[in-house]
Amino acid sequence: MATWSNFNLQNSASPLMEQIIFFHDHTLIILIMITILVSYLMINLFFNKYINRFLLEGQMIELIWTIIPTITLIFIALPSLRLLYLLDELNNPLITLKSIGHQWYWSYEYSDFNNIEFDSYMINYEKSNINNFRLLDVDNRIILPMNNQIRIMVTATDVIHSWTIPSLGVKIDANPGRLNQTNLFINRPGIFFGQCSEICGANHSFMPIMIESISIKNFINWINNYS
Ligand code: CUA
Repeated sequence: MATWSNFNLQNSASPLMEQIIFFHDHTLIILIMITILVSYLMINLFFNKYINRFLLEGQMIELIWTIIPTITLIFIALPSLRLLYLLDELNNPLITLKSIGHQWYWSYEYSDFNNIEFDSYMINYEKSNINNFRLLDVDNRIILPMNNQIRIMVTATDVIHSWTIPSLGVKIDANPGRLNQTNLFINRPGIFFGQCSEICGANHSFMPIMIESISIKNFINWINNYS
């Protein structure tokens, strides 16, 4: 989860998010190199005394400063496309979680297991007598098994919401009248937080998502004891 002074991306909890972080760092390095080069050239403009009365055109330099940015862009575009297609790939999901956005809470359905369904509301930190994560904790958590491919179906009932979990690399819009699909693979146990990221009304900031990642054995136990 996000903590104080966290300037970077959150730690990843899925292989895809790890790849997204690698891509972010890769792109940032290229950006820094470009910024340094351009800053150097611009600072130089103020101090140079090079004057050429007859300079009208320079085919070679124009060719160079066209080709080099093109190659630079390819180095960003190709890994970006690889990630884009990788994020959409679903291979044999073990279970399906359906999440439905409402104003202003999420509700979930585990349609594989005799249709377990529940609403997930944010806990009021000030009024709650148990210790919890302010503005991020919910009354009913999503329970999911780790190290398994999970299919997420996302929809909404009123306006557009967005089901977003930074540490898992998931961000998908919840549209009324449409069923969107994405996938998820959690590679460690823990609790992972997300928030709605489509401006959906007055309490947009108060519909957090909370995932509890547990072992498959405990997950089956939870399913069996669900009442
Ligand atoms: Cu739902 Cu913002």
